Amino acid sequence: MIPGDGIGPAITDAVVRILEAAGADIEWDRQLAGVAALEDRNNPLPPETLESVRANCIALKGPLTTPVGTGFRSINVALRKEFDLYANVRPAHTIVPNGRYRDIDLVLVRENTEGLYSGIEHYIGIGDDRRAAAESVMIVTRFGVERIIRYAFEYAVANGRRKVTLAHKANILKYTQGLFLDIGREISSEYEGRVEFEDVIVDATAMWLVMDPYRFDVIVTENMFGDILSDLIAGLVGGLGLAPGGNIGKDVAIFEAVHGSAPDIVGRGIANPSSLLLSAVMMLEHMEMRGPAERIRRAHVETVHAAENLTPDLGGSGSTDTFTDAVIRRL
Ligand code: NAI
Repeated sequence: MIPGDGIGPAITDAVVRILEAAGADIEWDRQLAGVAALEDRNNPLPPETLESVRANCIALKGPLTTPVGTGFRSINVALRKEFDLYANVRPAHTIVPNGRYRDIDLVLVRENTEGLYSGIEHYIGIGDDRRAAAESVMIVTRFGVERIIRYAFEYAVANGRRKVTLAHKANILKYTQGLFLDIGREISSEYEGRVEFEDVIVDATAMWLVMDPYRFDVIVTENMFGDILSDLIAGLVGGLGLAPGGNIGKDVAIFEAVHGSAPDIVGRGIANPSSLLLSAVMMLEHMEMRGPAERIRRAHVETVHAAENLTPDLGGSGSTDTFTDAVIRRL
């Protein structure tokens, strides 16, 4: 457990209380990262934290502040790199009633290690202008594509999903995105008769997500497209406050709230624990603790529907503690 900083410790405490009340038998090994670790250990990513994650294979992580401009680089990115967490899984379910769409139930699987976010960039100087041009390289490897596409199909099979949509831009980026699409088609044939497959150009995917999100089920895509589409999908169900996420690798999985450390509300007791709670539910499902996962999911939805003790971001006047108590009462 990495509680994080800002509102992290408060929402982590709330989540631990709910998991305990739901009967999830988990022993937490609490470790520091980010600002909290820098203050305590003079290192934003101490070796003890990495060792704990490596030994336990599963982590739940609160938000970590990334200093802008100066200071250490993003610990979130460092953790993804360290443990080769190649699949970013972002489910979206309608929870808040009377939103724009009813009954949304989608999952986006984003490739998390390569593509245009590989970080290979440079300037090209012309004459006196050292920054006359800039280039970024999009890296797509057969290894990287095969494992993310296979992950999406295996996820679909394990979770009783009917269809995988591959969102791409192979019409313009014929090599990089062409390879992504070709490998996707190859692998899809292994799942014929079990999981449907379609490919859709990414810009059209964005339009269809807004016009008719129900035509999608599991969407798999490269890193940057996934970054953008996953926030779009969160918007379909009321924004980032209720959006969970998991970063999955071969040996290690880290589940985290999608929002940040919310410095503007730290210490006010009004942080909404829902995003971290739903990430913890994903974690329980990953650990095959489906009983507690299902109980928490149901209690949480019922609490939100009853508009009971909702935190101010959801339009209520409750607090982190009263909302947490309300979820526990409904377990
Ligand atoms: P943010 O997500 O922390 O806050 C944006 C707005 O949403 C704020 O008004 C905040 O009060 C509200 N908010 C966020 N989570 C909430 C919750 N659980 N309950 C109620 N209200 C909530 O984004 P911001 O301000 O851009 O980033 C703050 C810091 O967090 C930055 O240092 C950023 O780098 C870091 N960050 C970390 C992430 C992570 O650890 N995965 C993800 C995103 C940002």
